[in-house]
Amino acid sequence: MSLPYFQVTGGNRLRGTVRISGAKNAALPIMAASILCEGEVVLRDVPHNADVASLADLLQRLGVEVTRRAEDDALRLVVRDEMNCKAEYEVVRKMRASICVLGPLLARRRLAQVSMPGGCAIGDRPVDIHLRAFRKLGAEIDLVSGDIVAKARKLRGAEMFLGGPFGSTVLGTANAMMAATLADGMTVIEMAACEPEVVDLANFLNACGASISGHGTPRIIIEGVKELKGCEYRVIPDRIEAGTFMVAAAITNGEIKIENCRLDHLMAFVDRLSAIGVNVERQGDLVVVSSARRLEPSDVTTQPFPGFPTDLQAQLMALLCLAEGNSIITEKIFPDRFLHVAELNRMGAHLRKEGPTVIVEGVKRMIGAPVMASDLRASAALVLAGLAARGATKINRIYHIDRGYVKIDDKLRALGADIERREGGDE
Ligand code: EPU
Repeated sequence: MSLPYFQVTGGNRLRGTVRISGAKNAALPIMAASILCEGEVVLRDVPHNADVASLADLLQRLGVEVTRRAEDDALRLVVRDEMNCKAEYEVVRKMRASICVLGPLLARRRLAQVSMPGGCAIGDRPVDIHLRAFRKLGAEIDLVSGDIVAKARKLRGAEMFLGGPFGSTVLGTANAMMAATLADGMTVIEMAACEPEVVDLANFLNACGASISGHGTPRIIIEGVKELKGCEYRVIPDRIEAGTFMVAAAITNGEIKIENCRLDHLMAFVDRLSAIGVNVERQGDLVVVSSARRLEPSDVTTQPFPGFPTDLQAQLMALLCLAEGNSIITEKIFPDRFLHVAELNRMGAHLRKEGPTVIVEGVKRMIGAPVMASDLRASAALVLAGLAARGATKINRIYHIDRGYVKIDDKLRALGADIERREGGDE
């Protein structure tokens, strides 16, 4: 089988303007929430990436008609058939975020069967907290041949604590919130995730007629309502894509203007960039990113929002590889999310992993090499390193990057990068 790969030749300084797509991690749960709604849901700015396509496929199997509106590319979702309540392993194994259909199915159809997601490259990723939330709302949960089967004659509002060993859970909060919208009475979620994507989902649900308050704080309160009606809604910009392009500007010593970027969603990231010597400035509707020639080292710990996002850890590591001095990166969300370390070392980086921490000894330059993408954000880090490296970098398994970025190669090329998508990659 012929697999696509990226051939990146480093050295070009990136310049120009890039538009950020809608947020994948906001769009996915919002699309799943269409299961809860009567009538048509119209979503603007849903990114055309592989994860969105996988969820659209799953929703179609669950009786939701999913189409793109010709005039503006908005995604239209309408529930046509409520018979199928089962998300099969063949779909869930492709994308763990499929778990976010569980809450809506249970709330609306009283029955949900979703294959238990397995581990993935970034760690174990259990779903125990999701299940705890559904049980609190009165659902009965069984595990049958690897499937989670959740049933409830009626969901009842409840108080619940959704913290786990690594803090709050983004999709767990989303799932609990979606299920609680149609429950009888009031639900209080303590230690809710505060991520902008959770806030966006709550805003969408409220626009459909839900009664949610406190989103964006660790306590979310949901008053159950009888029904939700579809609405038209625009998804927030993807903060992780924006952060990735900020690093692209910094690592190539270029200057990029970014459209559709919310700096209030990137405060911890921009704070670290400033410490490293990267300038990030708002100019009207644009965010302009440029960098000093000298990059300072920095220490970074990933945390739940508003802390430094785990989804930008790999990209920042690529940048810190070229700082003048030693940096320390600690992963507090997914302690094993470091598969990019060995690949960056193949490109001349000096990285040493000790448990959930990586010590980054800055080097003068990276050198192009054949490397292997292991997960979505790790592949972005390899592309970024390739842009700065001397010579050519061949990045295999780029299907990982296509899951979460919309045409990253085209967007980078428009900024002056030497990047080509070719056939004939290695597995
Ligand atoms: N956790 C549990 N039990 C649970 C759920 C989570 O112990 O039931 C743990 C996880 O193992 C992890 C921590 O809690 O240590 C936080 O995980 P979380 O549940 O917040 O992750 P998620 O909701 O499954 C979303 C994003 C990820 C992002 C994380 C953290 C989507 C579709 N995915 O995953 O995005 O890294 O939040 O911010 O929203 C990506 O886009 O590349 C990506 C992996």
